[in-house]
Amino acid sequence: MVSKVESSKVGGVVDVVIMAAGKGTRMKSKLPKVLHLLAGRALLKHVVDTAAELLARQVTIITGHGAMEVEAALAIPTGSTAKFDINFVRQEPQLGTGHALQQAVPVLRDDGIVVVLSGDVPLIAADTLQQLINACGGTQLALLTIDFADPTGYGRIVRQGEQVQAIVEHKDASDAQRAIKEIYSGIMAVPAKPLKAWLARLDNKNSQGEYYLTDIVKFAVADGVPVVAHKISDALQVAGINSPVQLAELERAFQMRQAVQLMEQGVRLADPARLDVRGQLVCAQDVSIDVNCVFEGTVTLGEGVKIGANCVIANATIAAGAVIHPFSHIEGGKPGTKDAIEVGAGALIGPFARLRPGAKLGPEVHIGNFVEVKNSTLARGAKANHLAYLGDATVGERVNYGAGSITANYDGAFKHRTVIEADVHIGSNCVLIAPLTVGAGGTVGGGSTISKDTAPGALSVARGKQVSIANWKRPAK
Ligand code: UD1
Ligand code: CA
Repeated sequence: MVSKVESSKVGGVVDVVIMAAGKGTRMKSKLPKVLHLLAGRALLKHVVDTAAELLARQVTIITGHGAMEVEAALAIPTGSTAKFDINFVRQEPQLGTGHALQQAVPVLRDDGIVVVLSGDVPLIAADTLQQLINACGGTQLALLTIDFADPTGYGRIVRQGEQVQAIVEHKDASDAQRAIKEIYSGIMAVPAKPLKAWLARLDNKNSQGEYYLTDIVKFAVADGVPVVAHKISDALQVAGINSPVQLAELERAFQMRQAVQLMEQGVRLADPARLDVRGQLVCAQDVSIDVNCVFEGTVTLGEGVKIGANCVIANATIAAGAVIHPFSHIEGGKPGTKDAIEVGAGALIGPFARLRPGAKLGPEVHIGNFVEVKNSTLARGAKANHLAYLGDATVGERVNYGAGSITANYDGAFKHRTVIEADVHIGSNCVLIAPLTVGAGGTVGGGSTISKDTAPGALSVARGKQVSIANWKRPAK
């Protein structure tokens, strides 16, 4: 939900380096830190997608801890606009942020502006980075900074007058320096050529025995290269994740930001604190969403759509006026494929409905409680109101599909299709054994097991004949 970069570019091509070799000990997890999810996307994926928005020429990811897993997870750029090469560079062992950047030197071209990002700082916005790149302009060292009330642990921006002189790490700082509130965010834009020269001059003579990337500021000052601080005030953009608590805090902050954006567009949220959008939610006018709903992938809600409480909806297009009653699970497959879900205008779904990949429901379709629909098309006005299964079915207009009825679509090896033509009435508790066509306007008696095609207009009954024995005496003790 970050805005696209529109500001004009100054000073050259952008090459992004993302540091992601750190261990993330405080996550206390086997999963590498940068693969933990924020709003349904890996932390590192957020950063890579932002690089895509910047139209970066190349993205270099420094990996170390969990390198194999990280590389496997990110190998295919899934961001729709990703048109760059991803390089992975290993840093083993991890001797500091300067050492991390040194590993990238062989793959960095001399003519680029290098934007240094962290894999665990997921919400940095592309427009902020574009401003930072413009501040660099291909000739200056531009640092992204922010004032923190509690700057403990961060590198401090040391100035002489207005001029930035150095970044001093918290552990190396004097008391006077520790009083500085302006900190280095960990993000910079720097011309590649001088960067390489400065990296070659780093040492590890400091309190942590690490090669600090931040020491390049001193070298820039010594070389007469201007150092500029681009200060922002939005702390979320530079928030790093070190622990599950921080991850959850950032998730809530991010969700609240998305909720506010939706409300500003006119969406009515019963409670913005009880909404989770893990992907893209696009809403037309007068949409209302009750509490505890989760949206995943790409979900589009048409005008006046109402979503009841406790619904989980993934990869679905829900047309104008449809109502999704509480506790419904709509689980579409990949957006843009046949597995995405469509719900027609004015349809009524749930409560407790389950729509699975490939459910395509026409206008005014009704799907009631405990009805499962998978890979099936229901035409206008078809109804399955209670306790039923429709799998691999094509259902015509105005069909009424009785309670407890199922399509037996799977023979243990293959899936087969059931076609129920327009105006058919399927009674309760029927089994329709596919492949099967029930002819238009036909009726199937309750409790029937139907395995042969039926003619249009026919009544079909396939069940044991009723036997009644008059005045029958039950056994008695
Ligand atoms: C660093 C900055 C500090 C800044 C802070 C912002 C340095 C020396 N200090 O602090 O000025 O205020 O970020 O959060 O750069 N990483 C590697 N390899 C390494 C070490 C780190 O890839 O050898 C990665 C980490 O995985 C992480 C990022 O670099 O993604 C930053 O490392 P971290 O240890 O969090 O930063 P600090 O040294 O605390
Ligand atoms: Ca550190």
